[in-house]
Amino acid sequence: MVVLGIETSCDETGVAIIRDDRTVLSHMLLSQIKDHTVFGGVVPEIAARSHLTHLDTLIKAALEQAHVKFEDLDGVAATAGPGLIGGVMVGLMEAKAIALVHDLPFVGVNHLEAHLLSPRLMKDIAFPYLVLLVSGGHTQLLVAEDIGQYRLLATTRDDAVGECFDKAAKILGLPYPGGPNLERAALQCKDLAAAQKKFPFGIPLEHAPEIEFSFSGLKTSVRNTADRVIKDGQIHQEDLSGIAASFQSTLAKTMSLQTRKAMKLFTATYKTPTPALIVCGGVAANATIRQELEQISAAQGFSFLAPPLEYCTDNGAMVAWAGLELLKAGKTSPLNIPARPRWPLETLKDQAAA
Ligand code: KG4
Ligand code: ZN
Repeated sequence: MVVLGIETSCDETGVAIIRDDRTVLSHMLLSQIKDHTVFGGVVPEIAARSHLTHLDTLIKAALEQAHVKFEDLDGVAATAGPGLIGGVMVGLMEAKAIALVHDLPFVGVNHLEAHLLSPRLMKDIAFPYLVLLVSGGHTQLLVAEDIGQYRLLATTRDDAVGECFDKAAKILGLPYPGGPNLERAALQCKDLAAAQKKFPFGIPLEHAPEIEFSFSGLKTSVRNTADRVIKDGQIHQEDLSGIAASFQSTLAKTMSLQTRKAMKLFTATYKTPTPALIVCGGVAANATIRQELEQISAAQGFSFLAPPLEYCTDNGAMVAWAGLELLKAGKTSPLNIPARPRWPLETLKDQAAA
């Protein structure tokens, strides 16, 4: 089975063609970072227009690279939500048109489900597995019980972790996209222990019994810390890297603290002999967070998996793969399915098709 996948829900135009033996026949990604940097964040209107301008060219290039024609495809998949609605509509309309003209099965993919299934593109991970989904819009611990069947264990009370990275980066005067730039700044810190002492941040909900995230307090602490050291809009390089490193390490510890609680719940509930933790979403590209999660996985007897960096942030390959998994499970979507700005994962099992 060969499936074309289209991703347009945020600021990356992604197109990929994937075969069911896990071969990525082509994988095209056009980042709009340059278009949005001057505004300090994603401008939905500009994102949608850019997807419209470039999507056709990317699809053509993906077909050429894969040596595949539309007639050779067994299905077309596109992100149908959640996301910035203008962009979602561009990709969804394009996929529907291709499916209609070439009489191909079509499936609208939930963007979060695509992130959750992305590690299965690397290897056959058996259900159920524990997932930490960390992106610009979501911070969730879930159990992937089956295709289309996800049990939410924990979410955030306020901001998402990616949002927290982006806001902290902005406070520190780092350019958009905040997460990767903050990670780069933290790498310049030569003495983490000294930085943590000079710029201490409390771990949110450290002593709360429930599994839950909260990042608004941490964001305020970064603002207060930055106010102390930023003079006339200038920050000393050492202070910048120190705050970035201490903040990043606090976030990594927050992730591992809540994930460890979820692991205990998972083990007690599912009793699988080979428990696995998957981390996915854009923030999963962060090396410090990966390391921290790898350590607690080893300590708790979980195997640890994260998609390669290029499949962590938004991309077409994860949408093509999720589409392929859904089509294999006999799930297709009618051509009148809507584009959804919000689409919680837990609602998927009530829907016969996406
Ligand atoms: O999954 P994604 O590409 O888009 C959404 O669906 O949200 O995630 C984007 C988020 C942004 O907040 C970005 O700053 C963050 O992921 N991010 C990172 C890193 N790379 C991307 N955060 C921390 N460290 C990184 N290396
Ligand atoms: Zn995403």
